[in-house]
Amino acid sequence: MAKTVVLSCIAATALLSATALLAADKVPAPTADERTWRLPKVPMPVDNVSTPPRVELGRALFFDPRLSGNGATSCASCHNPSLGWSDAQKTAVGFGGVVLARATPTIVNIAFNTQFMWDGRAKSLEDQALGPMKAADEMNTDFPAVIARLNGMPAYRALFEKAYPGEPIGEATIAKALAAFERSVISRDAPFDRWLAGDTRALTPEQYRGWKVFSDPAKGNCAACHNGPNFTDNGFHNIGLRDAAAKPDLGRFNIRKVASMKGAFKTPTLRDIELTAPYFRDGSATTLRDVVEHYVRGGEDRSNLSADMKELKLSEREKSDLVTFMRALTGRHVPVVAPQLPQ
Ligand code: HEC
Ligand code: HEC
Repeated sequence: MAKTVVLSCIAATALLSATALLAADKVPAPTADERTWRLPKVPMPVDNVSTPPRVELGRALFFDPRLSGNGATSCASCHNPSLGWSDAQKTAVGFGGVVLARATPTIVNIAFNTQFMWDGRAKSLEDQALGPMKAADEMNTDFPAVIARLNGMPAYRALFEKAYPGEPIGEATIAKALAAFERSVISRDAPFDRWLAGDTRALTPEQYRGWKVFSDPAKGNCAACHNGPNFTDNGFHNIGLRDAAAKPDLGRFNIRKVASMKGAFKTPTLRDIELTAPYFRDGSATTLRDVVEHYVRGGEDRSNLSADMKELKLSEREKSDLVTFMRALTGRHVPVVAPQLPQ
C-alpha cells in the first residue's frame, strides 16, 4: 500500500513538472514591435510596374543562355533556383571557368532592397541587370548581336510587344523585364512569417529562443544590422573577415572613400539562408554554425571592425538556438521550372 502511494506521488510530480515545462516553453504571440518585421507588399518603380507579361518575358531572358557571348551562360547559371538562387560555390565561377573574387548573392527578396551588389555599386535592379551581361568575365554579351537575334525571333518579338508595347527590343526593355522577373522571386510564409501573423505554433520553442538571442543587443546583437522584414539594414559593415587574397577587397570603400567603409560589405538578407551555403562574400563559412562561431569570436581581422561587432558570450544552447532560428526563415517551397525558351 505504502509503496503505491509513493509511486503515484512520483508520477504526480513528474506530471506536474512536465506541465510546468510545457508552459515555460510555450511560444508567446509577437509584440507590436516584433510585428513590424512582417513582409510588406512588394515595392515597384512607377516606370516598371510588374505585369504578368513582363514577368514572363523576364523569366525567359533570365534562363536564356543565348544572351551570353558563348551561348552557354544565363543568369540562372549562377543564380540557380534549385540552389536558393545562388550557386553553392565559395565564389562565383564566370565566363570560361574564371573564378571570380566574390560569392554569388541570392536574388530572393531582392525586390525589397535599396542597395545592390556587395559594395552597393548598382542603384536599382534595372541598373544592375545589364552589368553581368556586359562583364567580360561573367556573360561577355555582344549586345548588338543579341538584340538583332531577339528581333529575329517572332516568339521573343511577341513577348516584348506584350510586355512593353511600342518600345523597341533593346538594353532598356531587356533590363526592365529582368528586373520585373526578379521582383517576382519572393520568399514568404516562412515559419517566422506565420508566427508574426499570429500562429504561435509556427515556431518551435528552440526557434523562438533563437529569435530572442538574435534580436537581443546584449546577446547575439544580430539585429543591429540584419533588421526589418528582409533582415537587412541596406547598410555596409566590416565584420572582420580575414582577406585571403593578396590584394584585399576594399568593398564599399571602392565606391565611397570613407575610412569606415574599408572592407565593408552590404548586409545580406537572411531569408532562405539555409539554402545558400557556403556563406559570406568569400564563401569562408561552410555552415550556419560556422557563421555563428565567427560572430562569437567577434571577427578575425579587427583592423577596421564595425562598432557593432563584439565578442559574444553565448552558451552552447544559445548558439544552436540561433542556428535553428535562421532555419525558420525558409519560405514556403515554390517549385521553379525553367521556362520553355522561345525558338
Ligand atoms: C558568373 C556568375 C553570374 C552570372 C552569370 C550572373 N550573376 Fe548576378 N551576381 C553574381 C555575383 C558574383 C554577384 C555579386 C557581385 C558583386 O557584388 O561584386 C552578383 C550580383 C547580382 C545581383 C545583386 C544582388 C544583391 O544582393 O545586391 C543581382 C540582382 C544579380 N546578380 C542579377 C543577375 C542577373 C539579372 C543576371 C543575368 C543578366 C546575373 N545576375 C548573372 C554572379 C553572377
Ligand atoms: C555589424 C553588422 C552585422 C552584425 C552585428 C551581424 N551581421 Fe551578419 N552580416 C553582416 C554583413 C555586412 C555580412 C556580409 C559580410 C561579408 O560577407 O563581407 C553578413 C553576413 C551574414 C551571413 C551570411 C549571409 C550570406 O548570404 O552569405 C549570415 C548567415 C549572418 N550574417 C548572420 C548573422 C548573425 C546570426 C548575427 C548575430 C550573431 C549577425 N549576422 C550579426 C552584418 C552584420
